[in-house]
Amino acid sequence: MSFNDVFKDKKVIVTGNTGFKGSWLTIWLHKMGAKVVGISREVPTTPSLFDELKLGEKIEHHFEDICNGEAIKNIFIDTKPDFVFHLAAQPIVSVSYADPIETLQTNVMGTANILEALRVLKNPCKAVMITSDKCYDNVEWIWGYKETDAVGGKDPYSASKGAAELVIKTYFHSYFNKPDSNIKLVAVRAGNVIGGGDWALNRIVPDCILAWDQNNAVKIRSPYSTRPWQHVLEPLSGYLLAAQALAEGKANINGEPFNFGPNADQNHTVLELLKAISNHWDFKAIDEHFAIENNTTFHEAGLLKLNCDKALFYLQWKPVLVFEETARFTGAWYNTFYNKKGTDMFEYTVSQIREYELNAKQKSIVWAV
Ligand SMILES: NC(=O)c1ccc[n+]([C@@H]2O[C@H](COP(=O)([O-])OP(=O)(O)OC[C@H]3O[C@@H](n4cnc5c(N)ncnc54)[C@H](O)[C@@H]3O)[C@@H](O)[C@H]2O)c1
Repeated sequence: MSFNDVFKDKKVIVTGNTGFKGSWLTIWLHKMGAKVVGISREVPTTPSLFDELKLGEKIEHHFEDICNGEAIKNIFIDTKPDFVFHLAAQPIVSVSYADPIETLQTNVMGTANILEALRVLKNPCKAVMITSDKCYDNVEWIWGYKETDAVGGKDPYSASKGAAELVIKTYFHSYFNKPDSNIKLVAVRAGNVIGGGDWALNRIVPDCILAWDQNNAVKIRSPYSTRPWQHVLEPLSGYLLAAQALAEGKANINGEPFNFGPNADQNHTVLELLKAISNHWDFKAIDEHFAIENNTTFHEAGLLKLNCDKALFYLQWKPVLVFEETARFTGAWYNTFYNKKGTDMFEYTVSQIREYELNAKQKSIVWAV
């Protein structure tokens, strides 16, 4: 039993359910017996976890734009959700430079529309609002960012996530911060995640896998950039644990932001990550697995690390996987998808969630025991 079974038979809205993180969250909630209702504008990539694992057949799904406030409100009113996980966003920095208005509309006003839909609900509902580590004003220092640090952002994506945080905060203080409020919420901030089934543009792991599948060496732009890599299940365990804590009445977390990131010793370079993943890929024809080049065309923030003491203190949340396991989970998933044709990928993905839960239990992580 994970998360004290609080999601069993509950109605859970997941926005962005056709995306990478939303699909993993949907599978985990479905496995725990939740009735998932998805809202997404489209399936963002081909292939996608949503289509490959036929998630649309396992849940109620609405193709809707979160910028359409009335339509979103109606779905919320009809569903009467017990929980909401808001992940829908334009999440790519390079796309935000190409189309800042679309990014701001979706990430800021779309988030406001979700909060407005929560505001009209009459039933009790716990909401987890997903932003990003990039919501912080990145001053390129060596310390981890704390929840009390300033939000902000130089690129349009980061600015949109900082602005989303302000919108969440104002809705909490203006409408939900009352003892008898039926809405309880948290804002959650995590960084780069990796894992099987991501095919988004300009993300290093999907780029790498697509190159290897074509028997090409992967072109690496910034091989020695360090990132705090974490498997997608790590922040998801934090989101679920925060929702559980809200459901179980931990009043002191209501309205609070939380960081969910890997331990500091899990920082590794891009090259180290790709080498670790390559250990789990069946190479057929290439000797050179990596081609290092240098052509960054837009400003990319450097080191950005999260301080996760608050999640540890209030939620007893900790990451589960060490770096090598993160790389194994990721590499093995893609290798199974591309090189072991005929595998039931839904069952395989569920088996990775089971292994993750078991690993957490063995480490006495609070949500798994
Ligand atoms: N993947 C990461 O490394 C990462 C890191 C930090 C934060 N995040 C955040 O996590 C969330 C999920 O990211 P992801 O990587 O799964 O993204 P993704 O691109 O895989 O999925 C995005 C989802 O949002 C939906 N969406 C986009 N615009 C929409 C709109 N206007 N209306 C309705 N739905 C819309 C898409 O249809 C899709 O379901 C996002 O909020 C993102 O900013 C992701």
